[in-house]
Amino acid sequence: MSDIFRPYERLVPITVLGRTFEVPEKNSLLRAFQYVSPETIPYGRFCWNQECQYCKVVCKLPDDVAPRPMLACKFLVVPGMEVSELSPELKWCLSRKLGQGEIPQPPPVEGPPTAEELST
Ligand code: FES
Repeated sequence: MSDIFRPYERLVPITVLGRTFEVPEKNSLLRAFQYVSPETIPYGRFCWNQECQYCKVVCKLPDDVAPRPMLACKFLVVPGMEVSELSPELKWCLSRKLGQGEIPQPPPVEGPPTAEELST
């Protein structure tokens, strides 16, 4: 499993919905979620490429005054970051680790807007 992670020397603490996890530094937040839950994240509908938006979180970094939205596949782990909101897909993937038991997988997000929707 270590091959999927970028090289790291230590684990750093992050908080997700009030729970603290130790995750590999120098990796994306989504990869950190995979470290926490290797049995579900690979089966989530994630593009890992900043396109699908299924990995959206709201997060506060130690230096931030307020939480802000970010993409977990893009943003690198920062020690002490606090994730306060998860996308439905991430909630489903992390529900057991967050002590929320099994929850049903959310329905797929609708596809990209049509030309008609864009023109209105
Ligand atoms: S995994 Fe698709 S946008 Fe992050």
